[in-house]
Amino acid sequence: GITRHYTFNVQMTNVTRLCVTRSIPTVNGQFPGPKLVAREGDRLVIKVHNHMNYNVSFHWHGIQQLRNGWADGPSYITQCPIQGGGSYTYDFTITGQRGTLWWHAHFSWLRVHLYGPLVILPKRGEGYPFPRPYKELPPIMFGEWFNADTEAVINQALQTGGGPNVSDAYTFNGLPGPTYNCSSKEPMNELITDLIDALVADTYKLKVQPGRTYLLRLINSALNDELFFGIANHTLTVVEADANYVKPFTAKTLVISPGQTINVLLTTPPNPASQAYAMAIAPYTNTIGTFDNTTAAAVLEYAPTRATSNNRLPLPALPRYNDTNAVANFTSKFRSLATARYPARVPLAVDRHVLFTVGLGTDPCPSNQTCQGPNGTKFAASMNNNSFVRPRVALLEAHYQRRYAGVLMANFPTTPPHPFNYTGTPPNNTFVTHGTRIVPLKFNTSVELVLQGTSIQGAESHPLHMHGYNFFVVGQGFGNYDPVNDPAKYNLVDPVERNTVSVPTAGWVAVRFLADNPGVWLMHCHFDVHLSWGLSMAWLINDGPLPNQKMLPPPSDLPKC
Ligand code: C2O
Repeated sequence: GITRHYTFNVQMTNVTRLCVTRSIPTVNGQFPGPKLVAREGDRLVIKVHNHMNYNVSFHWHGIQQLRNGWADGPSYITQCPIQGGGSYTYDFTITGQRGTLWWHAHFSWLRVHLYGPLVILPKRGEGYPFPRPYKELPPIMFGEWFNADTEAVINQALQTGGGPNVSDAYTFNGLPGPTYNCSSKEPMNELITDLIDALVADTYKLKVQPGRTYLLRLINSALNDELFFGIANHTLTVVEADANYVKPFTAKTLVISPGQTINVLLTTPPNPASQAYAMAIAPYTNTIGTFDNTTAAAVLEYAPTRATSNNRLPLPALPRYNDTNAVANFTSKFRSLATARYPARVPLAVDRHVLFTVGLGTDPCPSNQTCQGPNGTKFAASMNNNSFVRPRVALLEAHYQRRYAGVLMANFPTTPPHPFNYTGTPPNNTFVTHGTRIVPLKFNTSVELVLQGTSIQGAESHPLHMHGYNFFVVGQGFGNYDPVNDPAKYNLVDPVERNTVSVPTAGWVAVRFLADNPGVWLMHCHFDVHLSWGLSMAWLINDGPLPNQKMLPPPSDLPKC
């Protein structure tokens, strides 16, 4: 591999969306941020200069960072944040990975503005395990735009104890589509319906030719929403998830959770009936009303274009916002390639079985306050009733120096303190404990982790993301996880390998991984509001006995707290 150098100047930049101009953090003045491109085996050296008067750190979402947690980026987990005026260089090598990943800020809610694609091409001379596409289209990142200041939104949610204010629009590569008429200051129709509307500013356009097959990379970087995605009159062939090839399957609608990436092949008809088609995203959630329920649109445009006007723009039909069956059906289709070249290295024997309940809980309301959470309480979020408390120093440094006292507790519960049961009394996950708790693991422990969602009704699924690892999704289902009968149905042959999995609403998911990457690795819900409420924990994987099984030493410019 070669070494590729990038510079990130993090600065405030004026950006106008939905007729509102805001000064937002950007990388090099770009929103969304720059696309990083590398090949498998390359080394990336990214110099970050923070010109804001605000902390920041960056995470390379899905990069495994073997023995090198120092480059992983979550603030107070693997590093102290880069303070205003400060700099830090992320230096890592991409080993054994290729596909679509992304990068984002990992401090507070800054990732709402600070994100970009990270495309890892196969090694030179190595192709894809599917027919070579005519071209690669620019990656599409789905996001959210808030007219309000997002720090104010999160502070409101933390202080009042209720749900946060929702975003004002979803976006395609930062563009909301023609959802708002700036001169009349009126929202326009939910979706564009004719080409004239479609060609106004603020609409993302993807240009294609008839009769070709393209590779399209899709990334959900929204803060708090799982999304449906579709293109009118086009069928997509899914070929990759979270930078892992999958057995190809076709779909009209995709479901993509925050943190996840999906690559599709888009084959265009030789004689398209329309000059352009709408692409759309809309949320999947059971709790409409507390979510942004708008639909955002972009345009797939055929070139060369015919000069026409008033063409109706065909719209994709997306499932209803609460169509859990559509979601379950889609997620059940993912399978690893599991070939000799791309084997599925799923651990067959398990050393540690652990089960986490995952869901929202509550804290009592302080007596001098009025809280807006359920029954006058404050929302908290937890796994096994523990709501994660952000430490004041970086856990990875504390671990490297073996200074644990007062920083972390190695007693994160690995079975639920209040067994959860859908058929019995309601889940006892209200009232949580708080602590910076981790699960320590010996090097090379093979782990089976069952994540049991505790939402009974009117709640959402939780996209759980693990840093430093991929895991294999060996099983999932609705209702209570059954430790006697469910394991018999596991797929240990070709389970999909991912870094983010959605714990289904009113259901469970089982994953397996081999703890062979020493360090401290965060695992959390990729809804930022749930992360802020504490839906997070960390795994501490100890060094192995051999020199190449130990953490690398920290770089000299590692920021101080
Ligand atoms: Cu993409 Cu810890 O996150």
